[in-house]
Amino acid sequence: MSRRKLIIAIDGPAGAGKSSAAKSLAGKLGYLTLDSGSLYRAIAWSVIQGKVDHTRPLEVESTCEKLRIKLCLEGESTEVWVDEVNVTSHLRLPEVTEVSSTISAYPGIRHQLLSIQRAIGNQGGVVIEGRDIGTVVFPEAEMKFYLDASVRVRALRRYHDLRLKGVETDIETTTKNIEDRDAKDRQREFAPLRRGEDAVVIDSTRLKLDEVIDRMYCVVMELIARREKIETPSGEHSPGV
Ligand code: DC
Repeated sequence: MSRRKLIIAIDGPAGAGKSSAAKSLAGKLGYLTLDSGSLYRAIAWSVIQGKVDHTRPLEVESTCEKLRIKLCLEGESTEVWVDEVNVTSHLRLPEVTEVSSTISAYPGIRHQLLSIQRAIGNQGGVVIEGRDIGTVVFPEAEMKFYLDASVRVRALRRYHDLRLKGVETDIETTTKNIEDRDAKDRQREFAPLRRGEDAVVIDSTRLKLDEVIDRMYCVVMELIARREKIETPSGEHSPGV
């Protein structure tokens, strides 16, 4: 008998709305959410704290090897602890965003984070969002989405988020940051951002968040219905999704 609860992967570029979509979808399904970017951000935070030169892969990788990273997932939230310090509230700082974008290209860092992500996802019942979840971390995930939107719309969303958080910025700078991060995510050698052939593509450029979630939820429920039909052909009642 196969595992009942699904692994749902949501990949896509920065600002496409993956985080909000993952949280809402997980909430509707009673699943956990893992924001995998928070792991790269936690390492970036530690690198900044330790005054390590983030442009030197070997130094960053050896710093990362010594860190004890712990994730606490509860409902929609991903809490990250590094060496017994809850670093969650520091992870969205602009300098952390910048450094995480650079260090996420380092193969040793990606390798070290694989086991943490797999340990959580292997239990099923989780929506994981990132850049390489459906292609590298969980190629066997039963449900994969690729969430995209135009650069202009993603930059506008990011700009409004930052302003709400009191960060002084302008639309040109935000657009440039998004484009730079896109280039790094897509052009890196290891686990680059790409649209997997088996992923359901949703372009959210002209969609509201609710519409994105409705589409995802419908696709997931169709899959669950198909699986239940295959697994319980006699029409017996099967346990939850
Ligand atoms: O999704 P985010 O902006 O919080 O991610 C932070 C950085 O981590 C981002 O620059 C891309 C990188 N990342 C990655 O390379 N692979 C993932 N699965 C998730 C994030």
